[in-house]
Amino acid sequence: MPIDNLQSTTTDPPSGIHINSLSHEFGRNESRVLALDNITLDIAEGEFVSLVGASGCGKTTLLDIMSGLLAPQSGTVLLGDTEPLAGRQDTARMFARDALLPWLTAAQNIGFSLATRNVIKEHREEMIMQLLREVQLEEFADAYPAQLSQGMRQRVALARTFSLKSKFVLLDEPFGALDAMTKINLQDQLVALWEGTSSTTVVLVTHDLGEAVALSDRIFVLSSRPGKIIANIPISLPRPRNVKELQSLPKYHELVASLWEKLSQ
Ligand SMILES: Nc1ncnc2c1ncn2[C@@H]1O[C@H](COP(=O)(O)OP(=O)(O)OP(=O)(O)O)[C@@H](O)[C@H]1O
Ligand SMILES: [Mg+2]
Repeated sequence: MPIDNLQSTTTDPPSGIHINSLSHEFGRNESRVLALDNITLDIAEGEFVSLVGASGCGKTTLLDIMSGLLAPQSGTVLLGDTEPLAGRQDTARMFARDALLPWLTAAQNIGFSLATRNVIKEHREEMIMQLLREVQLEEFADAYPAQLSQGMRQRVALARTFSLKSKFVLLDEPFGALDAMTKINLQDQLVALWEGTSSTTVVLVTHDLGEAVALSDRIFVLSSRPGKIIANIPISLPRPRNVKELQSLPKYHELVASLWEKLSQ
């Protein structure tokens, strides 16, 4: 058989995230709300993408569908080669407000997640300390969530999200409630955690256009409701990235400005 034919018969199983003609409506009859309208997008394995768009344009709905919390009404969604399913072991989700268990310490919160993913006990301690080091919270391993600031709790939540070593990480405004300086520190920690993985695909929902540019390989812009993809913008800033240093790069500011323009069209 000629080489060309051999190549065309080998197909790798799909990786990354593939959404085709997805629409989603809430309510019935007069109270019907079309939240997502014919969304088609492909995200490569290991890619970091952001979704930006006006409030109410369907970003959280889209993440809910990718997490398997909502079933797609029409169209198809694939994470890797399978449909989303709530509780899938290869998917991790993080929200704007941390969801730490208040009766467990920072270390125990991370340990709890590791236990749910069947990481054996002997390995947990070392992994927990390594993760807490990465988010600069080693000294607070034994502190309870109530003894931590909001930014520190988000850092624990971030460490916990990445402790799961999930193939797909879905983040919904994870730094929305933080001040500018804390935010930049956490963005740097997020980018470092992700750059430390080889094939974790990240989808970040954010209202912060600077954050989207600083972190992403690509940004999808959604129209206001019903959400449609109106732009797909590659971000060609070099990696590894340092969010603080990017602030002084003209190219970074140009990208943020062009994103503003797309959103205000
Ligand atoms: N469970 C629900 N029942 C009815 N309507 C809903 C439900 N969830 C969302 N919606 C509607 O769907 C639309 C999209 O909501 P969604 O939460 O996805 O927006 P969003 O882009 O995440 O907004 P924000 O940026 O404010 O978080 C909104 O009009 C909202 O009212
Ligand atoms: Mg939302």
